[in-house]
Amino acid sequence: MKWNARWRDRADAALAAPHHPLVERVGKGPGRALDLAGGAGRNGAWLAANGWDVTVCDGSAEGLALAARRGLATCHRDLEALGLPHGPWDVIVCVDYLQRDLFPRFRDVIAPGGRVIFSQPTVTNLERNARPSRRFLLEDGELAGLVGDAMVEHLVEGWNEGRYEAHAVFRP
Ligand SMILES: C[S@@+](CC[C@H](N)C(=O)[O-])C[C@H]1O[C@@H](n2cnc3c(N)ncnc32)[C@H](O)[C@@H]1O
Repeated sequence: MKWNARWRDRADAALAAPHHPLVERVGKGPGRALDLAGGAGRNGAWLAANGWDVTVCDGSAEGLALAARRGLATCHRDLEALGLPHGPWDVIVCVDYLQRDLFPRFRDVIAPGGRVIFSQPTVTNLERNARPSRRFLLEDGELAGLVGDAMVEHLVEGWNEGRYEAHAVFRP
């Protein structure tokens, strides 16, 4: 997959990348946390440092090799082909990965009372940033519909560190 070359070429930058600030809404562990499409594990690393038992799941072996260098457990999986990895997960973090058909499936793998933390740019992001390209972006206002009838703790859209993102924290 194309992400293997990207993670290989940017290994040093990936390992130095800060976590997404939304992840801090998770708070302290313990519990089982899934960093979904977590790549090199920048968000998983924050979770592990805050007491969570973290698995980084991704389709890129090169990304996961970097996550493993951080000491994180990994799960190599094509999410489009296979769907979500079996839980139960107390927390699922999904940052900068959009696969709409996963939303109705979160409740199958989340532990009772568990939460999903989700962030993705919307089309408004194109006003200032050429990437991600259009096909990877949410429509403005779309995330509320994807979250559906989940118990929503936090749902906002806006500019965040130069990117226009939709954020959600919800209990599926
Ligand atoms: C923009 S990166 C985000 C990585 C990480 N969530 C972060 O915030 O740093 C998107 C990630 O999605 C992964 N990915 C793309 N398609 C995938 C698929 N079908 N199955 C699993 N992972 C996939 C890529 O390998 C890449 O690591």
